[in-house]
Amino acid sequence: MSAKQTRIFLNGEFVGEEDAKVSVFDRCFLYGDGIFEGVAVWDRAPFRLQPHLDRMQDGLDYLRIENPYDNVGWSDLIERTIDENKMEDGYLRIQISRGEGISSIKWEPRLLRRAEPNVTIIPIVGFKDYYKGLIAEKMGTGLRAKILSRPRVPTASLPSGTKHCNYLNSVLGAIEVTSAQTDIGIAVDRDGFVTEGIAYNVFAVKNGELFTSPLNRDILPGITRSVVLEIAAREGIEAKEVLFDAFALTSADEVFICSTLELAVPVIEVAGRKIGSGKPGPITCKFGKLLTETMAREASAWHAARANRRAIA
Ligand SMILES: Cc1ncc(COP(=O)(O)O)c(C=O)c1O
Repeated sequence: MSAKQTRIFLNGEFVGEEDAKVSVFDRCFLYGDGIFEGVAVWDRAPFRLQPHLDRMQDGLDYLRIENPYDNVGWSDLIERTIDENKMEDGYLRIQISRGEGISSIKWEPRLLRRAEPNVTIIPIVGFKDYYKGLIAEKMGTGLRAKILSRPRVPTASLPSGTKHCNYLNSVLGAIEVTSAQTDIGIAVDRDGFVTEGIAYNVFAVKNGELFTSPLNRDILPGITRSVVLEIAAREGIEAKEVLFDAFALTSADEVFICSTLELAVPVIEVAGRKIGSGKPGPITCKFGKLLTETMAREASAWHAARANRRAIA
């Protein structure tokens, strides 16, 4: 399906790309006043939808935006978006803005032009073999990373636990990465400890053990990160959530990033220094494989549950 044929959910209906428009008064457009989520679709099923919905709910509660749907409503909408777009695999972006209003930054519903949130679900990438193509492309070669010059926004200023629509720190990181002609950017905090990447969490491997930054260190609690930790526990691989600096990262045997959009991808160079052998390492590749196996298994379970629901209805 080409981008032009993409069917986007916008405020209660599916529309084509040309008609998927929101007002210039939208608060997300004006102030970044909204929350978003990115959900993976694997074998026509959303992966770990509930934790994404929970994280989104936490963000909406924090911003005092009323969630327009309950969990069943969201699940139904996501299924419809997948069906409508005939998605095999790919990525769905859900976005909820506060509503519309420009007169001042005041947020209370009575002061807005339109108090209902603008709700969109946008299939962003591929409808077939997005992930499989990505794995084929990046798992074999790995990525080069730079340490970004700007620290992550401290969670005391903006909560890092949710995907709010203020991603300028990440956008500036992406600009820096492009200027440096490298592949990805990894951020530290103001004390020099590694936090996360532009839009991915970071893992390193040393002597057969994993380590990653703790959740209280200005990072997004990535859903993929939590699945990696689950897999480590299942496989009996020690995984520590600890503070570490760029030196520890460049001294690791392996480094990988993980996210809904990227899955688990090896990093072969950080700050100009080769990681391990300079090739994707065995533990990273093992996690990449176990992650997609988990996604495939859960997709089968999702379809079985859906068939069951239909049989009962
Ligand atoms: C800043 C940031 N960190 C980490 C992640 C990874 O989170 P998840 O695995 O839930 O996609 C993302 C995802 O986009 C992100 O934006």
